[in-house]
Amino acid sequence: MTVSARPLTGKARVAGLIGWPVSHSRSPRLHGYWLAEHGIDGAYVPLPVQPENLERALRGLTAAGLAGVNVTIPHKQSVLALCDKVDDVARRIGAANVLIFEDGRIGATNTDSYGFMENLKAAAPAWSATAPAVLLGAGGGARAVAVGLLDAGVPELRLINRSRARAEQLAADIGGPITVVAWEERSTALAGAGLLANSTSLGMSGQPPLELPLDDLPGTAVVCDLVYSPLETALLKAARARGAVGVDGLGMLLHQARPCFAVWFGPDPAVTDTLRRFVLADD
Ligand SMILES: NC(=O)c1ccc[n+]([C@@H]2O[C@H](COP(=O)([O-])OP(=O)(O)OC[C@H]3O[C@@H](n4cnc5c(N)ncnc54)[C@H](OP(=O)(O)O)[C@@H]3O)[C@@H](O)[C@H]2O)c1
Repeated sequence: MTVSARPLTGKARVAGLIGWPVSHSRSPRLHGYWLAEHGIDGAYVPLPVQPENLERALRGLTAAGLAGVNVTIPHKQSVLALCDKVDDVARRIGAANVLIFEDGRIGATNTDSYGFMENLKAAAPAWSATAPAVLLGAGGGARAVAVGLLDAGVPELRLINRSRARAEQLAADIGGPITVVAWEERSTALAGAGLLANSTSLGMSGQPPLELPLDDLPGTAVVCDLVYSPLETALLKAARARGAVGVDGLGMLLHQARPCFAVWFGPDPAVTDTLRRFVLADD
């Protein structure tokens, strides 16, 4: 499918993505679709910024009047020290994925928790935070998911990571009803859970598979995978084969972008099947 952008004027609003590298990112395609859909005089551009240039790049981008930027690897944590204001959610997660530039000042927030929870609500509307949740991983993605699930009120979050010390650090930083479980016990930890989320990179194209028998997972549980390449991971396939609801990682990526688009360009855009197909396509 095609979407046509309108020509920019001298008043165009400009936002972008800083990271190193950024060439693989789907965000320019995603925001480009919404800009065209809403006929907005604006642009969203990939901005490759090496770590040693981060501070200079931020000063330049704010001085040039950009509306803001998304932040990806490897800058999500290091940007915090360079911002004038870091909101509560970014501070709790310990990373920012969104910067808002206003009057030369830089504000930081994080919409990954929001994106995870909005996608969960859309894809599994019957889920409620009444049973324990199991979370695999303790990296940046896991920190956002943990904040989202704890704020939703899960009674227990079983946190399981290959490096146990990193899981313990996450639990200490974020607080709340987190039980750290050994990586070797990941399968039996599924007993009685209402939700399982994979926020490791296992199962992603080019990475080792996630080895996790689902026999102990209740049939009513919802299974979320943050990995979206491939879209249908082996974990989601196995979960769906057992009759469980599977929630893919693409939806989280799309939903986390909604509040970014709204703050930089105005409208609250919609996440639709057409958008999903457009973002996944390569033409
Ligand atoms: N859908 C979305 O919008 C979205 C958002 C954020 C992230 N993600 C995805 O989530 C995944 C994690 O991203 P991240 O930013 O959290 O990465 P990260 O900070 O680098 O964390 C990677 C995680 O994977 C674990 N891991 C890596 N290799 C492993 C192995 N061989 N065995 C066991 N565990 C292993 C790490 O465990 P150790 O601590 O032991 O190294 C860590 O928990 C990626 O696939 C990313 O694309 C998706």
